[in-house]
Amino acid sequence: MLIVKNSCFIGLKIALCSLALLFFFNSQSKEGMWIPATLKAHENELKAMGLDLPVDQLYNASGTGLNNAIVLFGRGCTGEIISSNGLILTNHHCGYGTVQGLSSTEKDYFANGFFAKDFKDEIPCGGLTVTFIRRMENVTDKIVPGLADTLQDAARDSIIKARIAGLEKEFEMNTGMDATVKPFYEGNQYWVIISETYKDIRLVGFPPNGIGTFGGDDENWAWPRHTGDFSMFRVYAGADNKPAAYAAGNKPYHATTFLPINTSGYKEGDFTMVYGFPGTTMEYISSFELNQVYNIVDPINIDARTKKLKIWSKHMNANREVFLKYTAKRAGVANGWKKWQGEIKGLKMNKALDKKQAEELAFAAWAKTDTGSYTTSLLPELEKAAKSADDAIARDQHIREDVLGIELIQQGVALEKFVACFRAGFSDAALSDTLKKLATGLAWFYKNYDAETDKDVFEALMPIYLAKCGDDVPDYYKKAYAASGEHIKKWANAVYDSSLVASLSRLTEFSAHARNSDSTRLINDPAWQLYSSVAALRKQNITPAIEGYRQKKRYLNRLYENALLRKDKEHKMYPDANLTLRLAYGHVQGLDPDGKPKYSWQTWLKDVVELDDPKSESFKVPAKLKTLYEQKDFGRWKAGDDVPVAFLADNHTAGGNSGSPVLNKKGELIGLNFDRPYEGTMSDYLFDPNRCRNISVDIRYVLFVVEKFGGASWLIDEMKLVN
Ligand code: ARG
Ligand code: GLU
Repeated sequence: MLIVKNSCFIGLKIALCSLALLFFFNSQSKEGMWIPATLKAHENELKAMGLDLPVDQLYNASGTGLNNAIVLFGRGCTGEIISSNGLILTNHHCGYGTVQGLSSTEKDYFANGFFAKDFKDEIPCGGLTVTFIRRMENVTDKIVPGLADTLQDAARDSIIKARIAGLEKEFEMNTGMDATVKPFYEGNQYWVIISETYKDIRLVGFPPNGIGTFGGDDENWAWPRHTGDFSMFRVYAGADNKPAAYAAGNKPYHATTFLPINTSGYKEGDFTMVYGFPGTTMEYISSFELNQVYNIVDPINIDARTKKLKIWSKHMNANREVFLKYTAKRAGVANGWKKWQGEIKGLKMNKALDKKQAEELAFAAWAKTDTGSYTTSLLPELEKAAKSADDAIARDQHIREDVLGIELIQQGVALEKFVACFRAGFSDAALSDTLKKLATGLAWFYKNYDAETDKDVFEALMPIYLAKCGDDVPDYYKKAYAASGEHIKKWANAVYDSSLVASLSRLTEFSAHARNSDSTRLINDPAWQLYSSVAALRKQNITPAIEGYRQKKRYLNRLYENALLRKDKEHKMYPDANLTLRLAYGHVQGLDPDGKPKYSWQTWLKDVVELDDPKSESFKVPAKLKTLYEQKDFGRWKAGDDVPVAFLADNHTAGGNSGSPVLNKKGELIGLNFDRPYEGTMSDYLFDPNRCRNISVDIRYVLFVVEKFGGASWLIDEMKLVN
C-alpha cells in the first residue's frame, strides 16, 4: 500500500509529521482481503492504522484466536458467535431461504418475524450447517515440489490431486477434524484449512421483512441504506461439544471464544476490520477476460433478468401464495441483476478496461526483463484464447439465462432421471415404484413453483434466445415455434398445457400408472424435448470451446499470476477471494466521490420512519417500530436522540462477506456487514478507494430491534456488552 516518504527529522516536526501520517493512514482505504495466518506481516501497518490488539489475538494456531468466533454460515455467508452459548449473528438475507422453509401462510415469519422466548422455542433448521476454521497452514511446499511451472494442467492436476488427498487424510488423522487443501493465487499457493462443521443449527431471531429487508431491491446495492439486515441462530452440539446430527437433547455449543459487543459507537475515521468469507474476486484477470464480463456476460444476464423479475413481481404482488413461493428466488435473481448493473457502471466510470490495458503495457515491458522465458508470451496467449472463446461464451450465457432461466426447462435435469428409469429395463411394477419416489423427491421444487408465472417467463425469454442465437438453436425449437405459427403465446400454452413437469399432480399421476410402453409420453414431453435438445446442442457446439478455453485460461492465469507475484516486490498482492476466511481492514468512511455532501456515512431510525410508505412492499415500516420511534423508546441503544441504523466503511469485501462482523480496534463487534454501494460492486475486479465501501448494520440497531421490537432481552443477557 501507501509508502509515505516523510522528511520528518526533529522535535516538533516529528509530532506534526506523525499527525499528518496518522491522517494519511486514516483517510486511505486499504485494498485487500488477507489470509489470517499471514497477518503478522501486516502488524506494523495494522497498528499504525489503529489496531489495539496483538495480531495473534485475531488469529493463532492454538485455538484462542478470534477466528474461532467466525463461521461460514450455510454455503455462502458469514456468521459470528456472540455468546458463550453459541448464539450466531448473521444477515437476514442469509437466513432467508432457511426461514422460507419454516414458513407458511399460517406461520408467516416474513410478515410477523420470529423471536424465540427461550431455548426450547428455537426452531431446528434441517440442512443448515456452520463451519468453524480452527487453523490454516501454508502447505505449498508439500503440494508443488518437483512440478515444473509449465507442466500442462492435466498431468499437473492428477499429481496435485493425489498429494492433496494424502495430505488431507494425514491432517484429519492428526487433528480429528476436517481438513481441506485449497489453491490460492491461481494455484501458486496451497493452504490446508482445518475446520469443524456443526449440523444442528436452530433459528433464534428473525425480524419481519419490514425491518430485515426494508428498502428491498430498491435500496439493495445502494447507499444510503436503512435495512435491519440481521437474524440470529444458535449452534447445538453433542454432549462432548463436538458436531452432532440434530437431536432434541443436543446442547447449545459452548464457545470459549465469542465476540464482545461494543455499544458506545464509533466515528468517521475509526479503524475497522471485517472478518469473514468473501466468495469470489478476480482482481488479476487480463483485460480480455474482464471484457467478457463487461461486454458479454453481464449484459446478457441483466437483459434476461430484467424481464423475468418484472413478471415474477407482477404475479407475486397479485397473490400472497406466489409471493411466498418466489420471495427467496426473486431475492437471489434480483441480487445478481442489480449488482451487475452497478458493476458495469463502476467499471465504466473507472475506465477499468483502459486501466487494465495500461497495466498490461507495463507488464509487457517488465516481462522482457524477467527470467521466466514464457513471460512475454502470456498476454498475447491470453488474448488469443479469450477472443476465440467470446462467441461460445455469449451463446452459453444465453442458454444459461434465457433458456435454463425458465424453470420448466431447467426441470429437465430432474426428468433425466425419469428417462433413465425407462432405459434401465425395470419391470412395470418396479418402474412405477421408482418413478413415484422420484416424483415425491421433487416436492421441494413444486412447493415453490407456479406454472402460470413460469409460462409468462417462457414467453418473455424464449424470444431473446431465438433472436440472439439465430441458427445455433436446436431443430426442435425451430420446429415447435413454426408449428405454433411463430406465435410465442400459443407455443407457451401448448408446452404448459401438456408437459408433465408443469404440475406435480400430473407428474405423480403419470408415475403411479407408468408402464414401459409409456416411454414415448415422456420422451415427447415438451419440457424434456426443450431441455434435452438444448443440452445436446450445448454439448456439441459450445461446451468443447468453453472447456478448452477454461483449461487454457487456468494454465495461463496461473503462470500470469506467478509472474505478477514475481513483479510484486512490495508484496501488495493478496489472493483472490475463494470462500476462505479473510480479514480486511480500513476505516469508518463516508462516500462522496463527487464532493456532494448528500452522502453521509451513517443513517438513523428517523430516516427509516421518514421513508415509510404503507403502500409499498419495500418501504412499509412495521407499526410497532413506528410507535417505538414516536415514543422515543430507544432504551440503552440511543445515540443522541435516535438509534443509528447503518454505516459505511472502506473495508474490501465481496459476496460471502454478508453477515461478517465489523470489528473495532479492540476486536469488538460494532456492526454487521451486508452490502456494498452500487458502483462500488466493481471491487470484485478493481478496487477504487474513492468508490468502494462496505455497508453494515449498526450493532445498536440490531440490539434495539431484538430487545424493544422482538421483546427478546433474554438474548441480550447472554451477550457480553462493553463500552
Ligand atoms: N446485496 C446484498 C448481498 O449481496 C444483499 C442481498 C439481499 N437483499 C436483497 N434485497 N435482495 O447479499
Ligand atoms: N450481500 C453480500 C453477500 O451476500 C455481501 C455484500 C457484498 O457482496 O459486498 O455476501
